[in-house]
Amino acid sequence: MNMNSIYIDAPMTDDARREALYRGQLLVYSATPNSTRLVEFTRGMLREAFGSLDPETAQYHMSVEEYAALLADLKPKFIHHPKSKEFLRAILRDLDCNPEKTYFDVPRMRSSTSDNYLTSGIAYAFHPHRDCWYSAPFCQINFWIPVYPIQSENSMAFHPAYWSRGIRNGSREYNYDEWNRISRQSAAQHVKTDTRKQPKAEEVIELDPQIRVILPPGGILLFSAAQMHSSVPNTSGRTRFSIDFRTVHSDDVTQRRGAPNVDSECTGTTMRDYLRVSDLAHVPEQLIAMYDTPPCLTSTDSDAVQPATRS
Ligand SMILES: [Fe+2]
Repeated sequence: MNMNSIYIDAPMTDDARREALYRGQLLVYSATPNSTRLVEFTRGMLREAFGSLDPETAQYHMSVEEYAALLADLKPKFIHHPKSKEFLRAILRDLDCNPEKTYFDVPRMRSSTSDNYLTSGIAYAFHPHRDCWYSAPFCQINFWIPVYPIQSENSMAFHPAYWSRGIRNGSREYNYDEWNRISRQSAAQHVKTDTRKQPKAEEVIELDPQIRVILPPGGILLFSAAQMHSSVPNTSGRTRFSIDFRTVHSDDVTQRRGAPNVDSECTGTTMRDYLRVSDLAHVPEQLIAMYDTPPCLTSTDSDAVQPATRS
């Protein structure tokens, strides 16, 4: 099945929506009351951090070191702010996700500066990848929300040819626990270069055809974690700020439903990160264990490949 559709404000049940996402489709929703509140809250944090500078153009008035330090302070504050979590829970309710069965992880604030100003470490410019190369389960759904108006030149891109086509990649050397232990804390240090080992395509990747969805601030873009996607090289003259977060649904976790696995060989799982919308409970340990493959398996061991979960 190839990805071929973008659904706008589709009146679908959450079950039907996840099914479409697992077939590679993209879904876009207009801003909801709570995604609008989240955007306002985020803009408030940005204003506070940048002071008299406009966050979208502040990069032209600050040294890159100063800018990276500001983001290194701001981004964790946003991620861990109790209000961020509350907005997410409210957005998921706005979208009719079942609060007893939907689990989410904390939101990230992303920035994409223009003209190659800062593209590593705290403002990493994502090369084409699937989140499933980074130990995300195949039932993970990504939510992406722009904070200010975006344009094609500072958006993100999907590479639909790779929905059903695998590519040689470095995911076999990636283990989520290992990554957390060694790399994450040091992201702020990588101002000019980034030496952390990220799973990347190991053959030439054709960026075209590509799809860039230009949605308004507070609009919500949903896509499967198996989608090949990347940050567009920003040539717009404005820094793009966006918010993203991820969910899983416990029925899909239990029944191993999700997008097909065409090329991921990483180990470990991000399943421990998700919290239930209703009460912030973690995914039950026995379900996590179903996905938590140990790092000692090698790529030649077929068990190391996370199973294709579409039956
Ligand atoms: Fe991603």
